[in-house]
Amino acid sequence: MNEHDSENIAGLLEALGYENCDDPYKADITIINTCSVRDNADKRFFGTLGQFKKVKKSRPDFMLCVCGCMPQQPRVVEEINKRFSWVDIVFGTQNIAKLPELIEERQKTGRRVRAIVDNNPNIDEDEMKPVRMHSHKALVNITYGCNNFCTYCIVPYTRGREKSRMLSSVCDEIRSLVADGVIEVMLLGQNVDSYRDAAGHSFADLIKAVNDIEGLERIRFMTSHPKDISDEMIDCFRTCSKLCHNIHLPVQSGSDRLLKRMNRHYDRAAYLEIVDKLRSAAPDITISTDIIVGFPGETEEDFEETLDIARKVRYDSAFTFIYSPREGTPAARFEDQIPDDVCHERFDRLVDVMNAISFEKNQEYTGNIYEVIAEGVSRSDETTVSGRTDGFKLVNFTTDKSPEEIMGRKVKVRITESKTFSLEGVEVE
Ligand code: 5AD
Ligand code: SF4
Repeated sequence: MNEHDSENIAGLLEALGYENCDDPYKADITIINTCSVRDNADKRFFGTLGQFKKVKKSRPDFMLCVCGCMPQQPRVVEEINKRFSWVDIVFGTQNIAKLPELIEERQKTGRRVRAIVDNNPNIDEDEMKPVRMHSHKALVNITYGCNNFCTYCIVPYTRGREKSRMLSSVCDEIRSLVADGVIEVMLLGQNVDSYRDAAGHSFADLIKAVNDIEGLERIRFMTSHPKDISDEMIDCFRTCSKLCHNIHLPVQSGSDRLLKRMNRHYDRAAYLEIVDKLRSAAPDITISTDIIVGFPGETEEDFEETLDIARKVRYDSAFTFIYSPREGTPAARFEDQIPDDVCHERFDRLVDVMNAISFEKNQEYTGNIYEVIAEGVSRSDETTVSGRTDGFKLVNFTTDKSPEEIMGRKVKVRITESKTFSLEGVEVE
């Protein structure tokens, strides 16, 4: 989501005549797009702001801007004003489109600009002309914000209430992307399964409509919520030929007691039933997840339930996080916070289990041939290219073709070696 916001911001700046500059300390304008999902991003952000003091002193016309989830929290704006007075513009997640006006205001008045809004109903993706990071694949927003209020999560407070884009707007955008050479889209929402546009279209309706777009080859989406995923959506894995057989399905915990405390609205039995349905719709589907360790009140038994569900599902990959209290969320006020040493010990055990499963699952790929879309060339060796399978496995492979010939194209690759986080292979005719 943040990545796509950055693409939109780059598009707004290009329209004003700015060009990309690789060095943030030499640029005319630097924008720091922030995340506040966990505390470590938070800390790094304030450190980074400090480093720009000198730049501002030596080049008073240099403009430093901050946006994203951090300044959606009042305490952060207060701190910026108090300790980092050299920040020129602060804006939020919900008024990105206003950036050109904010820059003009800053230039005309010479005063600092602080522009944070909550629940702006006027996010208009249709007006945006993002500078895309890739030419063959694109991120496409389908919803903004979140209504779920998982008790650990700050997103509903920083990105506001959920709004769905019209199915017709999403499809129009994808058609124009395809006309520009895009063959793969990633449909983005905090909870794609609760998508419902003003005309009553569901997420399954949207997938079916996108699947009908000629010239498009791959459809991905992120993120799913087990409480809202529908049988009709799962059935799309059978009926929609472009829908990649891959799903990111955050479980967060394997303990029913903790899932309740997290306000997730499903239990382990319901989660496992979804996994069964997904695998019967698409036997080769790859499944990844998010897991939080050390949520307040987590006992050794709760944690073992998490290890157990991970072993039952056998995830292809997992993002594992140590619980990080976020000010203003209910869980930050829970009294039974877990000591750091216990969190770290459990985290290490979980990572060992998850990595062993990923490694084992990847072994099944060795010797087989897969379609891979080439996405990047190794810096040290032009004949080594990386790409993704339909199931989102990262493949590093060798090829006789030149980078120009192969980038953004589908090629066939035979897997020669399988590692924990990637596969190695050679291109075959
Ligand atoms: N602490 C740790 N992990 C968190 N996540 C969200 N909020 C927190 C938090 N306070 C994780 C969840 C979510 C992923 C994007 O980040 O697992 O799915
Ligand atoms: Fe956060 Fe839960 Fe919304 Fe995901 S669904 S963004 S974890 S509140």
